[in-house]
Amino acid sequence: MKTYYFPNTFLWGAATSAYQVEGAAEEDGKKKSQQDVINAGRRFSDASVTSDFYHHYKEDVALMKEMGMKSYRFSIAWSRVFPDGDGDLNEKGIEFYDNVIDELLKNGIEPIVTLYHYDMPLALVEKYDGWIDRQSVADFERYARFVIDRYKDKVKIWTTINEQSIIVQFWTQKNLIPEKYLSDHQIRYQINHHLNLAHCLAVKAVHELVPGGIAGAAIGYNPIYPLTSDPKDCLAALNAQEFQNQFYLDVYFKGFYTKSVLIYMQDHGFAPKVEPGDVQIFRENISDFLALNYYSSECVKWPEEGAVFQESGVNWSGKKGEMDSHEIQEDFYEKILNPNADRTDWDWTIDPWGMEYLLRDIYTRYNKPLMITENGIGYHDILEADGTVHDDYRIKYLHDHILAMARAMHYGVEVLSYNPWSFEDLLSTSNGYEKRYGFVYINRTDNDLKDLKRIKKDSFYWYQRVIRDNCISE
Ligand code: BG6
Repeated sequence: MKTYYFPNTFLWGAATSAYQVEGAAEEDGKKKSQQDVINAGRRFSDASVTSDFYHHYKEDVALMKEMGMKSYRFSIAWSRVFPDGDGDLNEKGIEFYDNVIDELLKNGIEPIVTLYHYDMPLALVEKYDGWIDRQSVADFERYARFVIDRYKDKVKIWTTINEQSIIVQFWTQKNLIPEKYLSDHQIRYQINHHLNLAHCLAVKAVHELVPGGIAGAAIGYNPIYPLTSDPKDCLAALNAQEFQNQFYLDVYFKGFYTKSVLIYMQDHGFAPKVEPGDVQIFRENISDFLALNYYSSECVKWPEEGAVFQESGVNWSGKKGEMDSHEIQEDFYEKILNPNADRTDWDWTIDPWGMEYLLRDIYTRYNKPLMITENGIGYHDILEADGTVHDDYRIKYLHDHILAMARAMHYGVEVLSYNPWSFEDLLSTSNGYEKRYGFVYINRTDNDLKDLKRIKKDSFYWYQRVIRDNCISE
């Protein structure tokens, strides 16, 4: 049995996002974000209370400390700080983050702050359709600069945009898109262009304002495998890899759009409009690291002749679902479920080998430090009558993924942190409270708020030992 030890500086932790845990969606001056509207229209709980971190943060930070966390990755809600997106500061809103950050630091937990996690202020959606309009870049920059400046002495690690690739792939769920644009894929990639500019301007602000600060995006990243060794399937995998992954990373680390993807987009009429000076903004603001959200891998094959398939009707883990219904014509690659991988109850593939594969692959190509800012298994957890939650499936999932990360580190990959999803149960973006991720169980369901009691799952105690021993064994 082999044991892998981690560096003493390794930032063990866990992650959440603002609208998925905070609740208090319209309290103390906060106004709605687009997620409040998107979630209100779904078949599970809305985002008004979620796990009520807003009122429980001290209790939750105490649990983080008890578990041994060295870092906590969370996001700031733009609409709590600037309720109208571009208007006045909400003093009470920013005070909440002052308090959370101070509480973390007091408990020896390093804050890893994400500036944007799907929650565009609703006011800006109503004003100019959110990320569709280029004005969103300037408004985001103002918000980001304010927050970065306020915490420049307390927060050193900044992630900019959460899962840009997912925002683009599932653009009608992660954004409120007016009916008239629903089948306009040029708009989809224009949103992406604006997100790239927003990301770069936030990196710039960190470099200018934060002594010793580092910045990077948190990308949703699925390694992509060819179904067979047929050269056409391998080429399809390369196409998918460039289209879904490299297209984002090349901007973050090289300052340009991947040529093959841009040509594909031009051929199909949905390339973004790039203004003079934009590429210079990309080139001058290269990321310091890449934060990875890893859950699943994907499998592709060469598309059938004339195939039209619903890229966005298949969720990003490969599950055909109710997620989106707007077609994009693809003759580049065709996604299929990987026949060689286990799956969760929601058909997300469970692939720890994919963790080692992606870490080594990305590190070799870009040679920048990596962080894991999400990784975890959604499950129908059961609260037993004696108040325990036996989540051995989560322990196995996390063990196998940490081991894969350790193997990648053994082969030289620089990984700074591990922040699995999620510290506590939260509002899953696709399945509400039916699907749980946390080390800490929140006593509520989609239909019943109950007492919101915090209950430590078996995985809490297991992860506590991993952090304490700072190692993982085969
Ligand atoms: C990531 C997001 O895509 O996946 C999180 O950054 C999300 O916000 C997580 O919660 C799990 O997905 P889901 O759909 O189960 O919430």
